[in-house]
Amino acid sequence: MTTTDHELAIAANGLRKSYGDKTVLDGIDIRVPAGTVFALLGPNGAGKTTVVNILSTLISADAGQARVGGHDLTAEAQAVRAAIGVTGQFSAVDRLITGEENMLLMADLHHLSKREGRRVTAGLLERFDLAEAAKKPASTYSGGMARRLDIAMTLVGDPRIIFLDEPTTGLDPRSRHTMWQIIRELVSGGTTVLLTTQYLDEADQLADRIAVLNHGRLVAEGSAEELKRLVPGGHVRLRFSDPQAYEQAATALREAGRDDQALALQIPSDGSQRELRAVLDWLDAAGVEADELSVHTPDLDDVFFALTGSADVTDQPKETVR
Ligand SMILES: Nc1ncnc2c1ncn2[C@@H]1O[C@H](COP(=O)(O)OP(=O)(O)OP(=O)(O)O)[C@@H](O)[C@H]1O
Ligand SMILES: [Mg+2]
Repeated sequence: MTTTDHELAIAANGLRKSYGDKTVLDGIDIRVPAGTVFALLGPNGAGKTTVVNILSTLISADAGQARVGGHDLTAEAQAVRAAIGVTGQFSAVDRLITGEENMLLMADLHHLSKREGRRVTAGLLERFDLAEAAKKPASTYSGGMARRLDIAMTLVGDPRIIFLDEPTTGLDPRSRHTMWQIIRELVSGGTTVLLTTQYLDEADQLADRIAVLNHGRLVAEGSAEELKRLVPGGHVRLRFSDPQAYEQAATALREAGRDDQALALQIPSDGSQRELRAVLDWLDAAGVEADELSVHTPDLDDVFFALTGSADVTDQPKETVR
């Protein structure tokens, strides 16, 4: 390991894990500087939870080493546990008791005094907008509230490093944004976050660095911008319902890519106003009208599909201008 490793909140080398003859992790290296957000992005079954479980000492790797919070994962597992908080993919909330009782149980687990436990609990419930619901059974909470409670419980021990396994899966857009805000606040307070997600926009929004995990291997790593540079540029797509108009437009726009089946033309474009206007001018000059015009800028979805080889590479319009 290098001399800078003490500044890394998480440093893992060559993590491997198999179940029977199935290789789940095939040599994973991860380096997360303190105070940053690292997103582990991957489809179902990629191995995300397995990475989180190993780095949080819940299960052991078959091979490889890792330091978390400066402590060796196997030799100093207790010290690692003291430094971290984990919000698992599936809720740790006990639905039969109230939110407050869930929090106080966590405080007990962390050996806080009764008084300190009540103080920390009240503060966190307030911070996560759960104070009003604190005395209601968790079974009455919405998905977003339960997830906020989950994270609040994780923070009882004031961990410097937290693992969030799919923190927003199943949440509605508003709850997702609330969760993102919570994560940003944690990071601005100096906490290191390793999160897993299947949502590319989530990684894009939150992460300093993103690693794409597929079949137990990291197939790419970088900032969102770096990853987006891996895929071909954007384009404007014009769709026609009239085959004759389509043919006319295709003749006028020679450099456009044709999709004869969909009656759609694809023109390489950076999506700027100037380029859009040029396309519209061409159409005007040719005297044809497209039924639909959409602008496609490369995003992490493209990267993801390109790297994980998903079958679904259909064109998703990102912004429809008419
Ligand atoms: N205890 C286990 N025994 C056998 N196989 C396991 C075990 N735990 C995980 N696996 C397998 O390891 C692979 C990776 O699982 P993991 O839960 O890490 O994926 P994931 O990326 O978190 O997926 P998801 O997005 O569905 O949560 C899967 O094929 C899974 O079936
Ligand atoms: Mg998982």
